[in-house]
Amino acid sequence: MWTTIAGWTGFFRFVVRDAAADRCWAALFPRLPGAPEIVMTIMVVGGAGFIGSNFVLEWLSLGLEPVVNLDKLTYAGNRTNLSGLPPDRHLFVHGDKADRALTAELLAQRRPRAVVDFAAETHVDRSIRGPEAFLTTNVLGTFHLLEAVRAYWLGLAGAEREAFRFLQISTDEVYGSLGPDDPAFVEESPYAPNSPYAASKAAADHLTRAYGRTYGLPTLTTNCSNNYGPFQFPEKLVPLMILNGLAGRDLPIYGDGRQIRDWLHVADHCRALRLTLERGRPGETYNIGGGQEKTNLETVELLCRLLDELAPAADGRPRRDLMRRVADRPGHDRRYAVDFSKIARELGFAPARTFEQGLRETVEWYLGHRSWTDDVVSGAYRDWVKVHYGAASLEGGEKS
Ligand code: NAD
Ligand code: DAU
Repeated sequence: MWTTIAGWTGFFRFVVRDAAADRCWAALFPRLPGAPEIVMTIMVVGGAGFIGSNFVLEWLSLGLEPVVNLDKLTYAGNRTNLSGLPPDRHLFVHGDKADRALTAELLAQRRPRAVVDFAAETHVDRSIRGPEAFLTTNVLGTFHLLEAVRAYWLGLAGAEREAFRFLQISTDEVYGSLGPDDPAFVEESPYAPNSPYAASKAAADHLTRAYGRTYGLPTLTTNCSNNYGPFQFPEKLVPLMILNGLAGRDLPIYGDGRQIRDWLHVADHCRALRLTLERGRPGETYNIGGGQEKTNLETVELLCRLLDELAPAADGRPRRDLMRRVADRPGHDRRYAVDFSKIARELGFAPARTFEQGLRETVEWYLGHRSWTDDVVSGAYRDWVKVHYGAASLEGGEKS
């Protein structure tokens, strides 16, 4: 009984203390007898980060179902990515995916037809400096979420139970590193993670698979290559190079810069995820890639050219002059390449943009959103968390 009361107390706490935008949702809770039936919903976990917020924004702009968005708002989560969303279509909930009481209450109340899990610690370099947060969220957090989802799914009946899906968003890094002439990763490639980040994502994938096999939970897993696009936190290669290049700071190249990544615009990734959700076969995994293999040197040189064209430096010096070799990342994977023929064949996926087009749009987006980048660089975006949730709530996020 006390657990239930504690759960409800926590539930009302997050509903009430969220911003005015969420008040009308609060009024709907709990769903009382006679209250209007709420339309079908999906639950997105980690929807204030880079890919998650792109996914939520596109999903809602396409007129699809309302979204319940659960996010812990770590340093990588940015509530302003989601500002202006209509409150009757988007409920933002500040919380941890490992909080089983919270996720159980949310699931019971909102009855989503799908749970899409983006929430993770995602930066390889951070995982090398501090792996624990990666195990806590990516492994244990995923386990707790799966447990809550399993209990919810077991309580569904008939068509609702049949239609339910759990989508685990994963990475090509679980497959390890390719040699120059190796074929691209396929879904059957053995897992060989090389960083603590990749190992934690591999564990989450294995747990997801086990919940499908053992308990029959209708799971889907996607393993995607490197994303770029709007709202990416500037610790990752593309936004870091854009912001450093604009500020005239060094552009750090790890090692010889000849490591290869297979790039995909985030909007193409999100489309692949919608296809997987709608048409994917439960129990299956789908590789998602862009077919755009580039060395890091090629990527940074292209970014330099775009910056020189779209925002020439005041002194007229080419951004290329800012490139600097720095120490290599320990255990640095040499090459990723994804064979996405399964999702192309079965679900009709094809990337819509070339790397050059997508990168140009991305540079333009960063140039057009200077207040977003200024707030991220200054840390001002974290004020929202302080104002709305109090300084204490920052602790969990800032540890990571
Ligand atoms: P991100 O770091 O930008 O965002 C992660 C989000 O998860 C943030 O909003 C953060 O606040 C939230 N979060 C972290 N821990 C949480 C927790 N315990 N509970 C609830 N929310 C939590 O990440 P991203 O780049 O958008 O990646 C999203 C997912 O896609 C990750 O699972 C990642 O492994 C996967 N992925 C990323 C890429 C890429 O290139 N960025 C490629 C393939 C797969
Ligand atoms: O492949 C998918 C993965 O792509 C995702 O699962 C990860 O969450 C995401 O962070 C990304 O991992 P990478 O390690 O490939 O991305 P990152 O942007 O950190 O680095 C891309 C390449 O650029 C990599 O070879 C390291 C190199 N690099 C990165 C930084 C930040 C540099 O040379 N200099 C840098 O300053």
